[in-house]
Amino acid sequence: MKEKCSVAFHGTPGGKSPAGSYGLDKHPEICTENKPITMAKRQRKPIIVQEIEITGMADKGRGVGRDAAGCVIFVEHVAPGDVVDAHIVKKKKDYMEGFAIHYHKLSEHRIEPFCEHFSVCGGCRWQHLSYPAQTHYKERVVRDTLFRIARITPEEFLPIVPCDHTTYYRNKLEYAFSDKRWLTKDELNTGTSNLEDVLGFHRPGAFDKIVDIKHCWLQPDPSNELRLTAKAVAIEQGLSFFDLWKNEGFMRHIMIRLSSIGELMLIVSFFEDDQEKIKRYLDAVIEKMPQLTSVFYCINTKMNDYVLDLEMICYRGKPYIEEQLGHVRFKIGPKSFFQTNSYQAKVLYDKVVEFAGLSGEENVYDLYTGVGSIALYVAKYCKQVVGIEEVPEAIVDAGENARMNGTTNCTFYAGDVKDILTSQFAEKHGKPDLVITDPPRAGMHADVVKMFLQLEAPKIVYVSCNPATQARDISLLKEKYDLLKIQPVDMFPHTHHVETVALLGLRSSAVAPEEILRQGE
Ligand SMILES: C[S@@+](CC[C@H](N)C(=O)[O-])C[C@H]1O[C@@H](n2cnc3c(N)ncnc32)[C@H](O)[C@@H]1O
Repeated sequence: MKEKCSVAFHGTPGGKSPAGSYGLDKHPEICTENKPITMAKRQRKPIIVQEIEITGMADKGRGVGRDAAGCVIFVEHVAPGDVVDAHIVKKKKDYMEGFAIHYHKLSEHRIEPFCEHFSVCGGCRWQHLSYPAQTHYKERVVRDTLFRIARITPEEFLPIVPCDHTTYYRNKLEYAFSDKRWLTKDELNTGTSNLEDVLGFHRPGAFDKIVDIKHCWLQPDPSNELRLTAKAVAIEQGLSFFDLWKNEGFMRHIMIRLSSIGELMLIVSFFEDDQEKIKRYLDAVIEKMPQLTSVFYCINTKMNDYVLDLEMICYRGKPYIEEQLGHVRFKIGPKSFFQTNSYQAKVLYDKVVEFAGLSGEENVYDLYTGVGSIALYVAKYCKQVVGIEEVPEAIVDAGENARMNGTTNCTFYAGDVKDILTSQFAEKHGKPDLVITDPPRAGMHADVVKMFLQLEAPKIVYVSCNPATQARDISLLKEKYDLLKIQPVDMFPHTHHVETVALLGLRSSAVAPEEILRQGE
């Protein structure tokens, strides 16, 4: 019989945490501020599990260990090798969730985080881990997830490709305006007022709490300067910052996109269509930031920050940003998806080309193609590529990108892959020799997987940003496919996110798995 999770009931834990080292001092809210509200309401004694050894990292960047009875515990604010007491906030039949309240031993993998916003903004939750430890644990998460969900050990598991640029690597960031600043527990205790206009990141799990950002290490210059300018100009002009509870306030949200070839796009989301205020604001920002190559705005009167369903109005400059990845130039519109780490996107796409092992004669499908990124990258190595993407604006960009690069062997379709990829589609475009798929975090719709099993392409290259959904889909494909190799790639240093490229071979294919692997060498 499965043993149930055991817990000890305690009052306040004794001992002294070694706060002040390795980023622990940067967890001002570490023990009390944010989680166990329900328990406090019911006035239950806190559930504390003592001396948990953290043995690995798991989903959502949390550490994982076990209690004395062997029950799995997911713990926040820890590193593998820490030994901690944890305050439990969720207790299920076979696992628990909590956060560290006392550190008996600190991991040798801990380092001092370099960002002043570490642990509060929720952006780079692994900054307290050395980079080699980060990549080691990402690799392990991929391996463990594959085994746990798909019960597969691939024939080849390649070591993770680390990132050369571990700071300032993102080409896109979004910030929210708020008329209230999120306060640390210390600030709350000293009665600091939260009435302050801020521009920053949402605190994780809190739609109404914005952490004011002074410097962000994720996006290169002039991103910080642009964000600070966007905030300063709004304050100078007396524009109201958004009140997330009342759903009012003029300034809502900005998105900054930049490229490795020096292009810079700003998208501002306003709550009201007040042309005079919008013009005055944007003109002032442009005057202070003449490097801007593209300025958009949109009017968002909705209850949420999502802007991709809104009309984007090009106020100044080009209606896109340009980026160069290897041999391909891309135009990227304000709504289009593009890999957020341009340096590592090239590494990723080179892996796709390598795994694809193309001879020049193949018919390739590129599903979830975005602005045609992978399609255009592989086009020169095969006979033709057919791309599918649901965002119509991205498909317009894809067509434009093909023209700009002089690529004539790509065709693009706008729509949901599950509706477009049918047997009639395969009849029209010819059966694929290779399917490249790069779905969003949710993975592929079950109907798409079924279609893959019907199409029987000899090879599939599956790119994913979510090992769990990739493992689920690979498990469904197991009926006809073998997982020949998998390559984790780190695209997002200091976060738990990891990208993977998997090569699957059709079991009944005329080409033997050894031959498929050889083609990809
Ligand atoms: C992870 S991105 C990959 C994009 C592209 N392959 C690249 O490397 O830039 C996933 C893409 O799938 C698109 N998408 C999401 N759900 C979709 C669906 N059901 N059908 C078609 N495209 C979809 C998104 O808009 C996004 O462009």
